[in-house]
Amino acid sequence: MMRSATKAKTIVRSAHKTTAHGRAPKMDARVSVADKFLLPTYKRGPFVLTHGRGCYVYDAAGKKYLDFLGGIAVNALGHAHPRIVKVIRREAARAIHFSNLYHNAFQGPLALKLSQWSGMDRVFFSNSGSEAIEGALKLARLYGRNPADFPSSAAQKHRILAMDNSFHGRTFGAVSVTSTEKYRLPFAPLLPGVDFVRFNDEDDLESKFDNTVCAVLLEPIQGEGGIHPVTEAFWNRARALATQHDALLIADEIQCGLGRTGRNFGYQRFASKPDIVVIAKPLAAGLPLGAILASSLVAERITPGLHGSTFGGGPLVCATALEFLNIVEDSKLLENVRARGAELREGLIALAGKFDFIREIRGEGLMIGVELSVEGAPLVAEALKQGLLINCTHDFTLRLLPPFIVTRAQVREFLKTFELVLASITSTAESSAAAKKSENTPRLARSAAR
Ligand SMILES: Cc1ncc(COP(=O)(O)O)c(C=O)c1O
Repeated sequence: MMRSATKAKTIVRSAHKTTAHGRAPKMDARVSVADKFLLPTYKRGPFVLTHGRGCYVYDAAGKKYLDFLGGIAVNALGHAHPRIVKVIRREAARAIHFSNLYHNAFQGPLALKLSQWSGMDRVFFSNSGSEAIEGALKLARLYGRNPADFPSSAAQKHRILAMDNSFHGRTFGAVSVTSTEKYRLPFAPLLPGVDFVRFNDEDDLESKFDNTVCAVLLEPIQGEGGIHPVTEAFWNRARALATQHDALLIADEIQCGLGRTGRNFGYQRFASKPDIVVIAKPLAAGLPLGAILASSLVAERITPGLHGSTFGGGPLVCATALEFLNIVEDSKLLENVRARGAELREGLIALAGKFDFIREIRGEGLMIGVELSVEGAPLVAEALKQGLLINCTHDFTLRLLPPFIVTRAQVREFLKTFELVLASITSTAESSAAAKKSENTPRLARSAAR
């Protein structure tokens, strides 16, 4: 036991020593131990990211990457933002955790700020997006119960309508409202009472709605599903049907919320509000924190003991989240998101004119999907080689989620490198087509000669 702890320390230290001299180890020992000891839930390349600054990250060999994925919408302030570093240092030395049995100095002020940003009345803090979704589903089921029947009767009003092409996380409840089969089927049977509606199909929504529905859940912009925004007509119908049937409208803003679209929240594109908003990703600038924001209508149903969390909303994460929201306001980052987003989209549209395998550019602000008619994985790999972090979702859509602090020069740098990435795929396709042709020519010639 003692010996393996010492060995682990040596692996970390020796790898740091090598990188301090700027030399890459042949095979980074940290990659080998990760490959051997971690559950194989992710496919990762054989390199280790060690640090970041602003919109760039660096690997152990000293290679620099322009980060246009932002930790999948988490690193909205990039890396090592001085104000975030300062708050974490200061508060870590004061208190990392007490317990939710007591007030801490930051939960209340953060809840107030989130209420101002969202127009919601009450907040519950969790540790992740999935966990916030779980809580929202519990609130929906609670809302569907007649309080007079508490606590034992099964609720007649228990159905949850979720969307095709949705993604809400990896826990059991979250997987139950996620439509993609590869995430669901291996774990069935899942939570009962969930039905899926065709996204943006108002008639389908209406046909599945009745008084047994306690909630309709949607992402204002579907993220993992390939950056698909909800239409205004669908949103309005969902709001109207939820009100008509006394059900809740739940907006999953985990990926698209907290400034990503150039607005505080994605639903603020519309005139009406949801009853519950679920957030996480950038909230505490990279520290784990999620939240459920609820209207008073929903909050009225909650009493002490019905829901809770050991870690959720500790003083360190809440202080950091408060600083994140203050930085977004002080530095006018929503304006930057809108301006840089427009430049990025304009540049991508120009590239679509050059590369006919780009089918569509979708999204809002700094949440952009580039849909291709070819598989995206080789482009992600090529981008990595060229020092660019992007990702591909739903096989054919490249996803761009750069930090809110991205500069005009960095957008230009991205577009320049991205063009090289696209061109390399074209030339690979052309050369493999040429190789196929030359492979075929002698064969045809031979068969003709026979
Ligand atoms: C829209 C949406 N909902 C829920 C989740 C799950 O959040 P977490 O990974 O923090 O559990 C994600 C994560 O990607 C998401 O994009």
